[in-house]
Amino acid sequence: MVLPKANLRSSQGKSKTVFVCQQCGRESPKWLGHCPDCQAWNSFVETAVSLPPASSGWLYSTGNKAQELSHVAKATFPRLHLGFAELNRVLGGGLVPGSLVLVGGEPGIGKSTLLLQVSAMAARNSRVVVYISGEESINQVKLRAERLNISGEGIYFLSESSLAAVLGCLEERQTDLVIIDSIQAMYLDGVVGAPGSIAQVRESTLRLEHWAKQSGVPVLVTGHVTKEGAIAGPGTLEHIVDVVLYFEGEPFSSYRVLRSVKNRFGSTNEVGIFEMCDSGLVEVDNPSQVFLSAYKDEAIGSIVVPTLEGSRPLLVEIQALTTTSNFGPPRRIANGVDFNRLLLIAAVLTKRAGLKLFNQDIIVNVTGGLKLNEPAVDLGIALAIASSFHDNKSISGLVVLGEIGLNGELRGVPRVERRVAEAVRLGFKSCLVPKLKSKLLLDHGEIQLIEASSVAEALRLGLGKGKGNVIANAARQS
Ligand code: TYD
Ligand code: MG
Repeated sequence: MVLPKANLRSSQGKSKTVFVCQQCGRESPKWLGHCPDCQAWNSFVETAVSLPPASSGWLYSTGNKAQELSHVAKATFPRLHLGFAELNRVLGGGLVPGSLVLVGGEPGIGKSTLLLQVSAMAARNSRVVVYISGEESINQVKLRAERLNISGEGIYFLSESSLAAVLGCLEERQTDLVIIDSIQAMYLDGVVGAPGSIAQVRESTLRLEHWAKQSGVPVLVTGHVTKEGAIAGPGTLEHIVDVVLYFEGEPFSSYRVLRSVKNRFGSTNEVGIFEMCDSGLVEVDNPSQVFLSAYKDEAIGSIVVPTLEGSRPLLVEIQALTTTSNFGPPRRIANGVDFNRLLLIAAVLTKRAGLKLFNQDIIVNVTGGLKLNEPAVDLGIALAIASSFHDNKSISGLVVLGEIGLNGELRGVPRVERRVAEAVRLGFKSCLVPKLKSKLLLDHGEIQLIEASSVAEALRLGLGKGKGNVIANAARQS
């Protein structure tokens, strides 16, 4: 269908207003009290949009021609290596020129600290860094720099929240890296809404993206997450920027996890692990050891699982506690594992392994504040619950791997070799794995592989032969 030119011409150069939901970015020509997409109430704000000039429309030639892909020369990106190896890995091998990277996280998690340390490391490699803060004054940042032992040479600081002024300043100076702290503090004249509103944040990000692409200078931007855990409304910014990293951590833990959730230049789901110390963030080289620092072998209700964070194996402890519930329906509490997955595992344990969990409260906790989302940890959760229920330890030096099906069968998990290698490295002696038709190609010398085809069999083999192990005892008697 071709629109008549006259219609397009009539809208040329005019500006109009639409109503934009401040939670999810949905646009509507009329004001709505309730957003049909995200169900937020009273979230629509009138916002001016200017229509593009007719010459940039799809009906007009811009002289830009399509090229055959085979004739396009391969582009090479000389990546900028940042001082932290963990950060380089999460970015897919360093910072690509002209990329816009968003670092999201809750207030106080350490975003400004991370970026100031990154600035200092880049400045030490003779790069010119411009650090713009819309939230803090030069004295506040100087105090932080002193705490971090950063002299500030090669770092140019600007306290400014007008994005037009920021872009003006960037035009004047030759820079290698730009830091904007934070995107919610920036505002643009002519855009309706206070700083931090969805229209301001979206428009500011678009301008920065445009500037980064034009100048070839990488820009790192921080963003605060909302109550729901998204940056300025779900999905609005994440489409615009090239890379989205989340900086996460438990309020009472000094460990921080930097997670990549979108990366146009590398794989997602990579994680970097840091510790917040008195003089800033320090990389954690051996995270498995950190997450297992309080682990006691043969403890009741405690199982170690080799999980994968991106391509990286990590050993994590899962703890479970079951107690008889005296009032009302039994409760299930899942910290660090998916609640629905816990319900599924409890149901399978009841129906397929004979554990009477119907009157038991079940609490499952992942130590170290990590979140485990992959099904490969199912069997670890099941064993931890059974261990607590029977008051029985697991066998010594055990790690557990396997997905559980509704019939109580065990399914294979990806990249077993990597996971087992990490368990071997940390001195574990046996690994409970699903029995598969194709044999695992593992070097069995260093670790004993215990194969089980069902949950009931895994419980029999994985838990010790103490008095409490009713399943093992029943099997021995029969
Ligand atoms: P900050 O980087 O200001 O967080 P964000 O920018 O994400 O809001 O970090 C603030 C917290 O970090 C604050 O609670 C103090 C702590 N901190 C340290 O523990 N050690 C340090 O060296 C620094 C600079 C901060
Ligand atoms: Mg900050």
